[in-house]
Amino acid sequence: MDRTEIREIHAEPARYAGKALTVCGWLRTLRGSKRVAFAELNDGSAFRSLQLVLAEERLPDFAALCGLGAGTALRVRGSLVLTPQAGQPYELHADEMIVEGECGPDYPLQKKRHSLEFLRSIGHLRPRTNTIGAALRVRSAAAWAIHSYFQERGFVCAHTPIITCADAEGAGEMFRVHSSSENFFGKPAYLTVSGQLQGEAMAMAYGKIYTFGPTFRAERSHTQRHAAEFWMVEPEIAFADLADDMDLAEDMLKHVLAAVMDRCPEELAFFDKFIEPGLLKRLRRVRDSEFARVSYTGAIRLLEPYRDEFEYPAIWGADLQTEHERCLSEKIFGVPVFVTDYPKEIKAFYMRQNDDGKTVAAMDLLVPGVGELIGGSQREERLPLLEARIRELGGDPAQYSWYLDLRRFGGCRHCGFGLGFERLLMYLTGISNIRDVIPFPRTAGSALF
Ligand code: 4AD
Ligand code: MG
Repeated sequence: MDRTEIREIHAEPARYAGKALTVCGWLRTLRGSKRVAFAELNDGSAFRSLQLVLAEERLPDFAALCGLGAGTALRVRGSLVLTPQAGQPYELHADEMIVEGECGPDYPLQKKRHSLEFLRSIGHLRPRTNTIGAALRVRSAAAWAIHSYFQERGFVCAHTPIITCADAEGAGEMFRVHSSSENFFGKPAYLTVSGQLQGEAMAMAYGKIYTFGPTFRAERSHTQRHAAEFWMVEPEIAFADLADDMDLAEDMLKHVLAAVMDRCPEELAFFDKFIEPGLLKRLRRVRDSEFARVSYTGAIRLLEPYRDEFEYPAIWGADLQTEHERCLSEKIFGVPVFVTDYPKEIKAFYMRQNDDGKTVAAMDLLVPGVGELIGGSQREERLPLLEARIRELGGDPAQYSWYLDLRRFGGCRHCGFGLGFERLLMYLTGISNIRDVIPFPRTAGSALF
């Protein structure tokens, strides 16, 4: 079948003017009068629907067509007419409409606006709505932008394992993997919390790698920013330090922002109008601004004047709370801010110790609205220090022997970071609940479908 996608018509309406076309899609709305009816057809190739004009004189089954419900799957033959004077600049005058799939009156997505809560309960249908449809299209565009950023710069895409025997973060928030045959792997196995450790092994061969895949955390945080299954982007670079790490994170983020703004203008305009007024202005500003950098110790000092506003105090040695992160990025700096050199007690075992003996070469990128978007560090490349740190935290260096080999056999300065992909999407769309940027979300207490 010679079928035209609505996306192609939107891109070059003049090219199709006066021509006979076939389009396929789902009916969004239909409002009719006696002799003529107007319908919106959406085929998923573009955010915007195509206006159809149904005229009694052209369609023998006009009356029946006027009774079609929202959601009906249709194949429409017609000709495209330019209407520069009208509200929409072109419309398809239908000559034939074939129903491929009916959609009954119990279809849950009727014209009225539905709450995001309700839409979560119909996760199999909600990609057809404007909000979730746009969010997941932005998701696709951002995934493409991330791959292209790294691929164009010579990074090797490393597929690190999803089933793993290493607790990469040492935080004990892992899902255990069981099989029907007992002890399948001969030892306990888990779903990965991060591909970093294997990513480091790959970086010691290729110099620059990135992972982009699903990660899993059994943390019982019932917040709008935590999911049990989420995707992470983790670059790892050899012969580089923490400043290089931050440069990479900032450059990548701006690239992805610009690429998504370029590729999804209609989706972002929709979010700007209905989800977060001012979104486009904010994205433009971030794309064009320089990110701030402050040490953890400096951040604690800057938070001091705001202490009366906080539920928890911001004291040296404690992890920054969301309220502190937001205060830093929203009130104090007004742009994304890297906080560096955290106390070693609140960070993972693999981070490089600073000369002060108290802090490690870590960085978190905090952004307005979302809080922590990226977590990264320079890695401890000095074998004795790394072994000692594992022991200090109650671990057994023997369990990390392969990881320690990377320090024995040509180890070098290296660093990397993890970007929470869904957090990035929340930041790009203004959507405030992580469950609305994931097609089929899994969070504590909830795994539908
Ligand atoms: O800060 P995290 O825990 O860092 C790591 O896992 C490192 N191994 C990364 C590395 O250096 N290669 O996680 C990285 C990011 C966070 O900044 C956050 O954006 C996101 O992953 N993240 C989550 N996103 C959604 N739901 C959760 N439960 C998340 N936990 C972390
Ligand atoms: Mg973190």
